[in-house]
Amino acid sequence: ERFVITVPASSANLGPGFDSIGVALSRYLRLTVERHEEWIFIPETKEVQSIPTGTDNLMYEVAQDVARQFNIDLPSAKVSVWSNIPLARGLGSSASAIVAGIELANVLCDLRLSKREKLRISSLMEGHPDNVSPSIYGGIVVGYHHENETYIAQIPEFDVDIVMAIPEYELKTTDARDVLPSDINYRHAVEAGAIGNMLVAALLNKDLPLVGEFMEKDLYHEPYRMRLVPELSLVRKEAKALGAYGVSLSGAGPSVLCLAPKGKGKAIAEHMYALLPNCEIDVLQIDRKGV
Ligand code: HSE
Repeated sequence: ERFVITVPASSANLGPGFDSIGVALSRYLRLTVERHEEWIFIPETKEVQSIPTGTDNLMYEVAQDVARQFNIDLPSAKVSVWSNIPLARGLGSSASAIVAGIELANVLCDLRLSKREKLRISSLMEGHPDNVSPSIYGGIVVGYHHENETYIAQIPEFDVDIVMAIPEYELKTTDARDVLPSDINYRHAVEAGAIGNMLVAALLNKDLPLVGEFMEKDLYHEPYRMRLVPELSLVRKEAKALGAYGVSLSGAGPSVLCLAPKGKGKAIAEHMYALLPNCEIDVLQIDRKGV
C-alpha cells in the first residue's frame, strides 16, 4: 500500500508581518510512501537531489520525534521525494519538510492528528509559525507563538496572482537574521506595530491596494536585509509600474514576492524575465488546502 503526502511551499512575512504572517503557495513537496524493511529517501527532482537519503534526513528525524512523543514505534518506509520548492530561497522549504515529517508519522503510525495538533508540534520545532501554519492550513495565516502556545487566525480568501522572482543564489535564514538588530527603539516599535496592524486590517477588508502599500512599509527586517538582495528594489520599481499591488521579500529572501491583480501576473513575469536573467520567474497561486 502506498500513500502520498503533499505539502505546499510558503512565503513568510509579507513585509511587516515579520515572523507572524505567511501565505501558502502553489509549489509543493510531495512524498510517495511505502512500508519497507529499512528507511530510504529517494530524491526525484533537482531541488532535493542533495538531501540525506537515510535516517539523517530531516523528515525522518521529525517523524521519529513525533512517534516518540506518542510512544509509538515508527515503521520504516521507502519515500520518493518530489519537490519544486528550491532550498534556502525564502520559500519555506524547511517548514514544508517539517510538516511532511509530521504527516509521515501521522500516516505511518495512524495518529489521526488534527491540523491544530500538527500546528502545535511544528511551531515548537520552528519557533515561529509563519511558514508552518500556511503549509498546514493553506491560504494566508496570521500567527503568534509563545512558549507552548500557538495562536493563529486565517485570512478570508481573495484572488491574486503572486509573481515570484527566485534568484539562483541561496541565502541562509541564519545569515539573513544575523543582519537584524538585537533591539528596537520604543517609538520605532510602536510605528512598526501599527504598520503590521494596518496590513492585517487591509487583508481582512480585502483592500488589496492598501495591502500592497503596507506590505512595503516594513520596519522590522527589510530595511536591514535590503542590501543582501539587490533584486528587491528593482523588482519593486518595475512590478509596481506594471500594476502590482506591492512587493516584498519572500521570507528571509532572496526570493522577491509581487502581489498582483488576478490575470496580471503573466505580463509582470514576462517583463521580469527579461530584466532578471539570473532569476527564475514564476506566477504562483495561493494554495488553499495546506497539508
Ligand atoms: N520570518 C522568518 C524570517 C522566515 O524572515 O527570518 C524565515 O524563517
